Amino acid sequence: MSLVFAINGERFELYLSSLDPSTTLLEFLRYQTPFKSVKLSCGEGGCGACVVLMSKYDPVLNRVEDFTISSCLTLLCSIDRCSITTSEGLGNSRDGFHPIHQRFAGFHASQCGFCTPGMCVSLFSALLDAEKTSSCPETSPGVSKMTVLEAEKAVSGNLCRCTGYRPIVDACKSFASDVDIEDLGFNSFWRKGNVNKEEMLRRLPRYDRNNDICTFPKFLKDEIKSEMVSDPKKYRWCSPTSVQELQSLLETCKATNGVSVKLVAGNTGTGYYKAEKDQKYDKYIDLTRIPELKKIQKTDAGFEIGAAATISKVIKALNERKEFQIYPYMEQMFGKLASHMEKIASRFIRNLGSIGGNLMMAQRKQFPSDMATILLAADATVNIMSSRGLEKITLEKLLERDPLESCDVLLSVEIPFWDLGRYESFPEADSEFLFETYRGAPRPLGNGLAYLNAAFLAEISYNETLKGTTVRNCRLAFGAYGTKHAIRCKVVEKFLSGKVISDDVLYKAIELLRDTVVPKDGTTSPDYRSSLAVGFLFEFFHPLTQSRAKPSNGSLNGYKNGFHPNSQKTLPMLSSTQHVIVNDEYYPVGEPVIKAGASLQASGEAVYVDDIPSPLNCLYGAFIYSTRPKARIKGIHFEDDSSRDGVLDVISCKDIPAGGQNIGAKAFFSSESLFADEITQCVGQIVALVVANTQRNADRAANLAVVEYETEDLEPPILSVEDAVEKSSFFPVPPFLYPQPVGDTSKGMAEAEHRILNSEVRLGSQYFFYMETQTALAVPDEDKCMVIYSSIQNPQFAHSTIAACLGVPEHNIRVITRRVGGGFGGKTQKAIPVATACAVAANTLQRPVRIYVNRKTDMIMTGGRHPMKITYSVGFKSSGKITALELEILVDAGAGPDISAIIPSNIIGALKKYNWGTLSFNVKLCRTNLPSRTTMRAPGDLQGTYIAEAIIEHVASTLSMDTDIVREINLHTYESLALFYKGGAGEPHEYTLPSMWDRVAVSSDFEKRVSMIEEFNGTNEWRKRGISRVPITYQVALFSTPGRVSILNDGSIAVEVGGIELGQGLWTKVKQMVAYALGPLQSGRTEEILEKIRVIQSDSLSMIQGNFTGGSTTSEGSCEAVRLCCNSLVERLKPLKETLMQRSSGPVNWNTLITQAYAQSVNLSASNLYTPDYTSSRYLNYGTAVSEVEIDLLTGQTTVLRTDIVYDCGKSLNPAVDLGQIEGSFIQGLGFFMLEEYTTNSDGLVLNDSTWTYKIPTTDTIPRQFNVDILNSGNHEKRVLSSKASGEPPLLLAVSVHCATLAAAKEARKQLRAWKSHDDSGSMFQLPIPATMPAVKEICGLHIVESYLEWKIRENSR
Ligand SMILES: Cc1cc2nc3c(=O)[nH]c(=O)nc-3n(C[C@H](O)[C@H](O)[C@H](O)COP(=O)(O)OP(=O)(O)OC[C@H]3O[C@@H](n4cnc5c(N)ncnc54)[C@H](O)[C@@H]3O)c2cc1C
Ligand code: FES
Ligand code: FES
Repeated sequence: MSLVFAINGERFELYLSSLDPSTTLLEFLRYQTPFKSVKLSCGEGGCGACVVLMSKYDPVLNRVEDFTISSCLTLLCSIDRCSITTSEGLGNSRDGFHPIHQRFAGFHASQCGFCTPGMCVSLFSALLDAEKTSSCPETSPGVSKMTVLEAEKAVSGNLCRCTGYRPIVDACKSFASDVDIEDLGFNSFWRKGNVNKEEMLRRLPRYDRNNDICTFPKFLKDEIKSEMVSDPKKYRWCSPTSVQELQSLLETCKATNGVSVKLVAGNTGTGYYKAEKDQKYDKYIDLTRIPELKKIQKTDAGFEIGAAATISKVIKALNERKEFQIYPYMEQMFGKLASHMEKIASRFIRNLGSIGGNLMMAQRKQFPSDMATILLAADATVNIMSSRGLEKITLEKLLERDPLESCDVLLSVEIPFWDLGRYESFPEADSEFLFETYRGAPRPLGNGLAYLNAAFLAEISYNETLKGTTVRNCRLAFGAYGTKHAIRCKVVEKFLSGKVISDDVLYKAIELLRDTVVPKDGTTSPDYRSSLAVGFLFEFFHPLTQSRAKPSNGSLNGYKNGFHPNSQKTLPMLSSTQHVIVNDEYYPVGEPVIKAGASLQASGEAVYVDDIPSPLNCLYGAFIYSTRPKARIKGIHFEDDSSRDGVLDVISCKDIPAGGQNIGAKAFFSSESLFADEITQCVGQIVALVVANTQRNADRAANLAVVEYETEDLEPPILSVEDAVEKSSFFPVPPFLYPQPVGDTSKGMAEAEHRILNSEVRLGSQYFFYMETQTALAVPDEDKCMVIYSSIQNPQFAHSTIAACLGVPEHNIRVITRRVGGGFGGKTQKAIPVATACAVAANTLQRPVRIYVNRKTDMIMTGGRHPMKITYSVGFKSSGKITALELEILVDAGAGPDISAIIPSNIIGALKKYNWGTLSFNVKLCRTNLPSRTTMRAPGDLQGTYIAEAIIEHVASTLSMDTDIVREINLHTYESLALFYKGGAGEPHEYTLPSMWDRVAVSSDFEKRVSMIEEFNGTNEWRKRGISRVPITYQVALFSTPGRVSILNDGSIAVEVGGIELGQGLWTKVKQMVAYALGPLQSGRTEEILEKIRVIQSDSLSMIQGNFTGGSTTSEGSCEAVRLCCNSLVERLKPLKETLMQRSSGPVNWNTLITQAYAQSVNLSASNLYTPDYTSSRYLNYGTAVSEVEIDLLTGQTTVLRTDIVYDCGKSLNPAVDLGQIEGSFIQGLGFFMLEEYTTNSDGLVLNDSTWTYKIPTTDTIPRQFNVDILNSGNHEKRVLSSKASGEPPLLLAVSVHCATLAAAKEARKQLRAWKSHDDSGSMFQLPIPATMPAVKEICGLHIVESYLEWKIRENSR
């Protein structure tokens, strides 16, 4: 019996007997086929990097069904007779790219490119869906049937850490039939204003919907028609085709002692229950080939849904507008159920995950299911097949039962029609049916587990006598809040039944509810979860409290045909504008040239380290890390032999060769060890590397390895900055890196009319969340040489670390990096130990070794941004003018020095954006036993900016002044700027911040919106808005950077630079610079030269002194280095060109020139090391932003309604690239301020260690309107062609979102104070970072509903 399937039209046949049924489709694709576009990023269904299109053929209907799936969770055996299409299957460099790839490239929607293939497949699937399901009138073949709304949702479950999503959404929308093409963002197909709409359309790469990819090859259709039936009992993977067959199979299994069985539907459950992946089962029983379990039908009693029906299919069925003649009101209930289900996970999970799988996870494992809660409210029943036989019971009973046995099967779910008056008969005729579902989750559109979910069903009627709305009966279900399973809140149901809804009644119901919805111990944010329950109940019943809730024309007040007004809450559509000045002075520098290799990235052909085919005999490594902050390692062992499967060795410090050192990362001033020596220094420290025959075996063994620790005679670990201070445990900061104070703060304090003393702020960490985790491949070579392929931002440092560790001269080592799937600082120092450990293992075993660190280990080991504690004292006048600021900053640097020494100067550099009058500080780098922190994008600067804003907010609150006025009063004049940034302030005309401050006020319509918000807040009780304008100043530094330009015999040009392409567009800018700088030699079109240039991979032996890629200026530095190289080449070639021109009396073409140069042995390779002098090595970047947010006081959810940015890029080297950097870094900053909780236990072990708990921004959490204005601030003599950096500074602008949220929260608290009879909330408060939903809700009042009702009751009784 064999498995037959197609991948990108190619036939594959595998023998079932030779397959491990736990193999995933992703493992097969990546390790056994050439199709590498499928990327592994999370391995748990949470990111979309591995998305492929699956197509199934129905021979009876002769119909192909296409849908996306996550290949990291799909089991290979389950794709039998299916066809898979990956991004390279849509198009590629050989056969031509698909218009999706081309448009992604042209809209600059791919930066590092690691997410792009998954995005492209998701979009392709949305286009196919639209084709099949759209009710759109026929469009022309070049226009899809997809709507803008569908386009926006097409990639809603896919994560991207680089772009900020705006350009991705634009690329998707460019396919929509109803798009106004003028609304699309900045792209390389046209310039706004230059062409009309028709021309714009014409310039888009043509999409022909009638002539698109064939997703299901004919040969497979033929094979399906002649499908063989196998004996399901014979193999480990069995696919029974009827319930009887399933039953007999299970009975056989039960009869055979000790046989472990796993029922499989979509297998998405292993995304959450990851241990199940490592568990070895004797039998895997596939439920998806049993027609009864897949069937969805509408009966006279309701819907009957087979347990293996996918959630997507259930949604589709529930949404089908059928006539429910006897029960017309049921249509809205089914619609509500469907729209709630659309928020479960993401489309590519719902397409695979079944309703039964979900319910069984809830039943057996207490999974915080949405499905269980909403179906409980809908009074669902289930049919099960267990040892007790066939049973039909209510879902409620199923959930209450002990976990079902592994061989018990859920067969189907029934959602009944609801008979009005089924429990009691009321004399009043006018009864209404209400049904609503709720979900408080970190992402509004899904792919985030709910903090709490709820669904309410109620029968109500108007009571003439009592002049109010009576609840006849109701079902109130709550789940996911830290409960064993979804529950009905029967006390409240009982209490409400028969009552007329009033404020009093609601208040009492809420009291009862609070006693019932109590999260179990250990649940995060328990009070918040209970308050959500209260909020939702209130939202459901409150519209009925008013006595005027009399039904008219079939609708009750607040409800229209069962629809709650608020339930229609939808996010506004995304919109954006970009104001970009293209500067052609240095053409093609300044052009928005498409990112080099963008189409290759989209098709997935771009090669990342893990895409390099494994060399013969390659082994795989996985880290065993410490789980104790300070403990003696006594030994490592495996619990049993099975956990050692495939393991060849466990590498630790004993394997460091003689002459080598235990060194894992060298930096400028320090080094860190590779493996923990005898005693661990922190959790997450590398203890050892398991080396096995596959990555899966290595990961599994590392997971199951047991490290024995002992703490006897050891000093207790230092686990806080306070502890470090007590023990004087600090890292030194070299004096030349330590920032300088300004003026005399004691004088400044004396001048002040008000003082805030010793106020405290704390900031936490942030994880990089690059889509490609840390990875390396080491290949031993002759004579103790080694080649290491590493995804790293500073190969030079890895190079010398590896040489020192192996005890070999540096010329034995070669570190190669082509591209990095996102770095954000996390692959600067933290990539070095990965590469070094790989090299040690390869050296020990004399075989190639590769490591692809799994997401959890990466999140635990890499440390992230520096947390810190800040204590400040500030003096100021009544006008708001600040006269003195004194700071004490304790930075938690962790156990290793990394390059934390730069943090003090970065914090102070960004904080000096305001004129504090006088400034003094004491910044200490605390050495703790917590994971070593590193330089995450805008390291220290981000915190410095926030500290400045926190102080400004505090001053404004103290003086009861408008914060915007306090900000403006304290902005620098050029003179004060020069004083604060001694020598680094540039020329007066370069200080563009004041004009940008005004410019953003105009472009954002700031003043007008401030009054509109005031009005909004005055008229809305449950939603508050806030707006904030902030400035930023960012000090960047340039470093020495090498470059080499070599012209080959055929005229093509190979360029090497020290900088690494991380997605930031470095190669693109370098290519443009080479084309510009070789201009004097050209006689043809500049584009011709541009096409001849290739920037090649970085090779640390070929291009030495590569330095590191970081600090935002590597692109500029690399550009300048190659410009110097080109200048040398021009100098060498110009005489020849002139001679040739004289000879031919006309222009000389490039190839002739080069041929002649080769003939005359002109040196056509030039290298240079650009070393900025003192005056050009440092400069200031400026930006301003206005953000407006709205918070929902019942849930704490914050929606960023609009952000306007003005950013000074100087003369941009490539405005498309810079725009991408500005938007992308702003969104990463938004993640820090609003979403990304990176919490640890008290030992420092990261708790938010997966996509389930770590929530980076998604398309539904970015500003709904996002406008970016790139200022071209003219000439800057000391800059590289007058350009300025864009990689990190804009990240700081995201503080505007936090400040706006604070402004909205102030309004909420003001209202709360008015409702409360006593004022205990105070006007001074700090909004935590990140300002997650629980944090915002807590600030706005966890008991806000009760306060409101108490106030109403008091008012009513007056
Ligand atoms: C990234 C991600 C996000 C998610 N977010 C949400 C969310 O927000 N809300 C939510 O409610 N859910 C969420 N889920 C859960 C998702 O709905 C379930 O994973 C899915 O429905 C399970 O279905 P499956 O067919 O893949 O089950 P499988 O993984 O195949 O099975 C799950 C478990 O149930 C058993 N099983 C399966 N079918 C049956 C049956 N018929 N009888 C007996 N046992 C059976 C299996 O043996 C296994 O133990 C999310 C999942 C992922 C991966
Ligand atoms: S790798 Fe599969 S969803 Fe993330
Ligand atoms: S481009 Fe999306 S993650 Fe890098």
